[in-house]
Amino acid sequence: MKRDVNFILNGRPVTLSVEPRTTLLRALREYGVTSVKRGCEEGECGTCTLVIDDLAQKSCMVLALEVEGKSVLTVEGLVAPNGDLHPLQQAFVEEGAIQCGFCTPGMIMTAYAFLRKNPDPTEAEVREALAGNLCRCTGYIPIFRAVMKAAKTMRELGSHPGAAR
Ligand code: FES
Ligand code: FES
Repeated sequence: MKRDVNFILNGRPVTLSVEPRTTLLRALREYGVTSVKRGCEEGECGTCTLVIDDLAQKSCMVLALEVEGKSVLTVEGLVAPNGDLHPLQQAFVEEGAIQCGFCTPGMIMTAYAFLRKNPDPTEAEVREALAGNLCRCTGYIPIFRAVMKAAKTMRELGSHPGAAR
């Protein structure tokens, strides 16, 4: 039997009606949030990663009902109200860190949560932070470069831009 789950999605309250066994990944995709990619559904590839209350989480490993009352951020939520990309999104574009794009939302959300905790990382720390996110296209180097560049931009801006971002 379906149950309601109420949470904040990218700054807006939502209520979804879900079966108790439905993962957050599946619930969000059914709701139309298709940036949350369905890869392995076993917690191995990282492509479904989003941020729940400031923590990067693999949404295939979270039941939708578990986010009751929490704040869920997906890559759509990083875009400013005026359409400006978040520095991470901008850096991924500029550094050619996107090829097929399948891994990109998960990479960006993992990096986002990481940079909130460690705004001035070494490249080694970035590599370690992204170790749970697989990419079949880029060879990872442009991705690491993009995260380092975004970290610098965010430091120069003096804060993590935007409340929901
Ligand atoms: S789909 Fe969630 S980790 Fe692969
Ligand atoms: S850009 Fe294709 S999997 Fe990473």
